[in-house]
Amino acid sequence: MRTGEQTIYSFHLPTRIIHGPNSIQEIGQVFVNLGCTKALVVSDKGVNSAGLLKPVLELLKKSGIPYVVFDEVEEDPDGVTVGKGADIALREKCDGIVVVGGGSPLCAGRGIGVLVTNGGKIRDYAGLDKASKPPLPLVGIPTTAGSGAEVSQFIVLKDEAQHAKMVVGSPMNFPKVAILDPMLIRTLPFWQSVVSGVDALTHAIEAYLTSLTTPITDALALSAVNLIYGNLRAASASDDLDAKEACLIGSTMANIACGNARLGLIHTLGNAMEGEFKGSHGLAVGVLLPYVMEFNLPASYQRFAMLARSMGASDIESTLEDLAPRAITYIKRLFIDLGFPKKFSGSQLDRKAIPQYAKRVMAGLYGVYDPDKEYPMDAVVPSANIRKATMKDVIELYEKSFEGWEMR
Ligand SMILES: [Fe+2]
Repeated sequence: MRTGEQTIYSFHLPTRIIHGPNSIQEIGQVFVNLGCTKALVVSDKGVNSAGLLKPVLELLKKSGIPYVVFDEVEEDPDGVTVGKGADIALREKCDGIVVVGGGSPLCAGRGIGVLVTNGGKIRDYAGLDKASKPPLPLVGIPTTAGSGAEVSQFIVLKDEAQHAKMVVGSPMNFPKVAILDPMLIRTLPFWQSVVSGVDALTHAIEAYLTSLTTPITDALALSAVNLIYGNLRAASASDDLDAKEACLIGSTMANIACGNARLGLIHTLGNAMEGEFKGSHGLAVGVLLPYVMEFNLPASYQRFAMLARSMGASDIESTLEDLAPRAITYIKRLFIDLGFPKKFSGSQLDRKAIPQYAKRVMAGLYGVYDPDKEYPMDAVVPSANIRKATMKDVIELYEKSFEGWEMR
């Protein structure tokens, strides 16, 4: 089931992954082993007030590691926040970073690491492989089962000048260590668990539907779909620690898959409008998920059948034509069970600005948006998405995402 023309691939994951209940106990030794002596601990106010920072700080203290806390990362952080954190790290002479939080602190913390060693502003490094020096060594401790940013080389931040997202990508940006401790996601509120889980599920599904898939990324993506789809309901609505741990591991596996097979149209469409979207990243990409899956279905019935199987479909007496669309039905059923919205509302996003969002999509997920550039309706989106999309397709997908879907 080769999905692209390419024949030579590479799989890269330099991040050491430590996981299991109470695995944050390892933080002191891990930090010392990295050759670091003073930590900048990056987090946000919500994580701090939920009491999740405290055990990590106590463990650092117990190991004799001095630290400075920067817990001012906002949801969807921008270059200003990253600059502020970098100033503190430089002033306090921190030589390592520990991030405790979800995707926002994990991206801000990694951006801070880039700025401390390279100088300038984070926008200078937007795009791929722009920074010349490795960032500060970083340990990522996620407190949501969603972004997978603890194993990612891509730093996603808000570009405050362009009202869009920017991506700072480099193999040097991988955290050195990720610690996946399900005890830290035990108290995550229902809705946060849902939106972060849907984001992770989107990473896994997108990673399975690109032109850069390999048997290695496929194995990770399908297992991640299986873990997240099978456990997200219980992980969000109950105290089931096993379900929470399954979602946490699944979200990390999903990001390892998409870090190598890349993402497709969902995140490209999401990033292009999220600068103006009143809602979380998980909500934005989740609403787009069923629509883009329907767009992608004709590109590979085989792959959609495998997705359906990983969500529990049985092969018995099922044809490919019967099995494949069920992947979309399963996602819709999950959304109904979780109370996840079927469409965007006018209060979240300006429908009239769709042509503007579509123009941003044409820069591609890893490109830098040029507001002066115009595109014809048949221009093709630069993307690894399994089905090529034009500007016209992108506009139609955005329009559909305001209309809602039906269960077929
Ligand atoms: Fe995402």
